[in-house]
Order: sequence, then structure tokens, then C-alpha cells
Amino acid sequence: MSLAEDLLELALETAREAGRMLVDKRPVGGPDVVHTKSSPTDVVTQMDQAAERLIVERVRAARPGDGFLGEEGGTHAGDSDVRWVIDPIDGTVNYLYDLPDWAVSVAAEVDGVAVAGVIDMPRRGETYTAVRGGGALLRTPHGARELQVNAGVPLDRALVATGFGYAAQRRAHQARVLTGVLPKVRDIRRGGSCCVDLCSLAAGRVDAYYERGVQAWDVAAGALIVQEAGGLVGGLDGAPASPELTIAAGPGTFEALHDLLRPLDPGHD
Ligand code: IPD
Ligand code: CA
Ligand code: CA
Repeated sequence: MSLAEDLLELALETAREAGRMLVDKRPVGGPDVVHTKSSPTDVVTQMDQAAERLIVERVRAARPGDGFLGEEGGTHAGDSDVRWVIDPIDGTVNYLYDLPDWAVSVAAEVDGVAVAGVIDMPRRGETYTAVRGGGALLRTPHGARELQVNAGVPLDRALVATGFGYAAQRRAHQARVLTGVLPKVRDIRRGGSCCVDLCSLAAGRVDAYYERGVQAWDVAAGALIVQEAGGLVGGLDGAPASPELTIAAGPGTFEALHDLLRPLDPGHD
């Protein structure tokens, strides 16, 4: 097995264990909010923290020298070339409200490049995986299938997923951008999890995705899954995807969405 395949195996086992724990141990009546981040609605629950601890412990036990970037634990430099990028619950507000669309996201980077990614959605019974250069899979209890984005969907036929930040000022501008997008596309979906959105794109369940403010842990695994499903992921004017703006879509649709967004100035608050 290649290093990337080894890392995928560990990511898969670990993300699924965390996903099961999050379902089995979700407190009746919902998890406690232990603190908030960018706004009073940007919440962290004890379950976000417990899931990240579990993932880090499992990975450390198997690969003691690796580094970590975890949403709830910050950065720990390692002494190997491998870094793990973790969002223990993407879609925490959905998890809090007991809506099913939340995910555990685990990516492994080698020298800063994501080579293996897993997004586990236990409430859907779906796990999405990708190895760089090896394609992307949707695994369910009934089997696995290769993922392929929809390509060349004209904007007026495109179903576009997006999301909004937690801070009021950012949302006000995101709402202005949306007024330029909504009349030009088939429709918009706001599901509440960037990882679910990117996997839906990879599976052909939406045609495009864009969002300002998503961080490395939101997109590390999902961007690899989209690319391995034949999609494009980037920012404005050829820049890489970043917290400023992330656009993802199949070839043809990506460029059209980029050109629609560009004059709407989507990369600031
Ligand atoms: C959030 C989700 C949401 C997106 C936000 C993210 P979190 O992640 O991905 O869909 O709109 O930008 O912060 O806080 O649930 O891990
Ligand atoms: Ca997230
Ligand atoms: Ca999170």
C-alpha cells in the first residue's frame, strides 16, 4: 500500500469511530454549548471537543510523529511530513438541533498537500473518501460507488449550494451577493455543512458550491473529494481556495459561477 492509502485507512477507521461516538453519545435533549467563537451563534459543544480528542488520540497512537490542525485544538507541529486536518463536527448547528446533515472530516496532508480525505456522515449512513490520483468513492452499507461531478451545467440550470458565516456583518454582505446569484441559477441550497455540500457536489446532487469564510478544516478533505470526482476548486482570478472565497463546481460551471460572482465582490465583508 502507498503512504496515501495507509493514511486513508487510518482516517477512515478514525472518522467512523468518531461518527459512531457522536451518534451514540449525543446527550438526550442535545449537547451543551461550552463556548462560542465568532458570534453567540458560533457554538462549540462538548461533543465537538470529545470527537476531536478521540481522533487525535487514535491518530497519535498509530503515528506519534505527525502534526495536527484541528478546529477545536489548534495547531500542533509534528516531526514528520504528515499533518492531519480535522473538523470533528462540520455542521455543529445541525448536530445541536438534531438535523441529520453533519459530518466528521479528516484529511491527511503530506508536505502541505492533501493526499487522503474522509468525510463521514453517520446519520446518512454515507462515507466519502478520496486518495489523490485514485478517485473518490461514496461508501454505504450496501457498497461503494465512484463519484463524478456534473460538468458543463449552464448557470440557469445549476443547483448551487452555499453557506453563511456566523458574524452579522459578514452575513449582510453575503446576503447582498446572494441577491446577484439567486436570479441567475436554478436554485440555492443552504444545508448547514460545508463538508456535506462538497460531497453533494462530488456525488452530482448539486452542481456548484461557493462560500466566503470556510477554513482549512472545512475544506481539506472535501476539496480533495471534489477534485478526485472531476471537479474544480479555487478562489477568485486563479487564486487557490481560501477563507476569502471558495468556489467548487464541475468544469464549465466553475468558470461561469466564478464570472457571475466576480463583480459581486464576494471576497470581503
Ligand atoms: C460551518 C459549516 C457551515 C458553513 C460555515 C462553517 P461548523 O462549520 O460548514 O455550513 O456555512 O461557514 O463554519 O462551524 O459547523 O464546523
Ligand atoms: Ca466546519
Ligand atoms: Ca466544526
